[in-house]
Amino acid sequence: MLATAPIQFPGEPESNSERARVARGEPVAQRTFTPTQAVLARSAGAYHWTPEGRKLVDFSSGVLVANLGHNPVDWWDRVWRIMGLNATAASDRYIPAAPLTSYNAISPLEGQAVERLIDNLRRQPGGQRMEQVFWAASGSEAIQKALWAAMRRVPGREMVLATRRGFHGKKGLANAVTGSESDPDRDPRVRFLRFPCDECADVTLRGKPIDLSPFRQELELLTQEFGDRIGTLITEPYLGGGGSYHPQPEYLQMLQQYCREHDIVLVLDEIQSCFGRTGPMYAFSHYGIEPDVVCLGKGLGNGIPVSAAVGRSDIFASLKYGEGSDTFSGHPLACAAVIATLDIFESTDILERGRQLASVLEAGLLRMKETGVVVRVRGEGAVWGIECAAVGNRPAEQIANDCVRACYLGDDAGRSIHLLGPLAGRVIRISPPLVLDVAEAQEYLDVMYRLLIQVRDAA
Ligand SMILES: Cc1ncc(COP(=O)(O)O)c(C=O)c1O
Repeated sequence: MLATAPIQFPGEPESNSERARVARGEPVAQRTFTPTQAVLARSAGAYHWTPEGRKLVDFSSGVLVANLGHNPVDWWDRVWRIMGLNATAASDRYIPAAPLTSYNAISPLEGQAVERLIDNLRRQPGGQRMEQVFWAASGSEAIQKALWAAMRRVPGREMVLATRRGFHGKKGLANAVTGSESDPDRDPRVRFLRFPCDECADVTLRGKPIDLSPFRQELELLTQEFGDRIGTLITEPYLGGGGSYHPQPEYLQMLQQYCREHDIVLVLDEIQSCFGRTGPMYAFSHYGIEPDVVCLGKGLGNGIPVSAAVGRSDIFASLKYGEGSDTFSGHPLACAAVIATLDIFESTDILERGRQLASVLEAGLLRMKETGVVVRVRGEGAVWGIECAAVGNRPAEQIANDCVRACYLGDDAGRSIHLLGPLAGRVIRISPPLVLDVAEAQEYLDVMYRLLIQVRDAA
């Protein structure tokens, strides 16, 4: 049997045995590489614990999933109650709770979640086109459903423009609109256009005017070549997986204007940015645009697998009965999680907490440039990327991995930080739960600063 040797850390017997167990029993493709392969036995709020009981502050929110923190009591109480799981059992063997199925049947939770989500979206600046919810179970599936519908809206207008270096998922059409045209087996219906990166390479460029003329020219050329065959444009509010590039709002507004002028469906991928990551509930409000379809995932269910493409009903009407159905979409547990998550966003100061965290993160991460390990800092709200530099003979990619590893191992006082493996090779994602206390965020940013100095000195 072929298996890749698992990553192991001294002094972590239980974690090492878990790492070895999944290395034996799962293909390596199951996991994205990280230099830590952290084993997380329990999580609460902004913290994880390893099986050995070592505490790690979570600077990743899972993967931008646990915006409300991990396992909040009031959230679980609601999920439980909405599911009917707190009801007195009618018999001692089964609980008369919501069914754990939505296929060929409708649970009232589904309609409730639809209405709540649409209501929430429509109350935000830019949410006025939100009419129907197309449920899915992962981000890439929501993207795929949005594209299926948009590409079929008008016969002959099946071509899609996507922004280069974007990340929309690994499956099917979501993969087809990810990255760039470099893959020779590219879906011929997809064409790419440039997303500003140099123009927003560092947060210090925020607010600097952007010259939109090269982007307009590129669109013009594509229109000349493909004309009416282009029916859809998909982009992200900021490049997430592509390396954390947060554009000037004028760029996205220009794309929207182009879409409106040519009757093109604008699909905005907010799988990662939804539910408070960039400051407001949705990034489209912050960027001053009004998408035709918005794809939501990750934080939508605060950790329960659920995603959705939400948007204009005339677009979704291009698909017939069953063309977008599957076993788990619209699942009652997913709907209960969406309702509970909306309840908390709508009844607490969680967005304000995220905004307070934002300024602490920005200052703390900018300071990391002093270490020489970080060359650029990009982000907004509670979603940041720090770009590592080469140090000595060690390339930036290795330095980024060294930093992730050093943060996992922590300082002499036992303070450790859980980070994701680097984005685009050398960018470390910082995206804690919005509930991370600002004083604790400051403390751990200081810890990270000192750990980065150690990485530099060891290079
Ligand atoms: C912007 C964006 N779109 C789509 C996806 C794909 O989501 P999933 O991994 O749930 O398929 C991701 C995942 O990271 C993402 O960040």
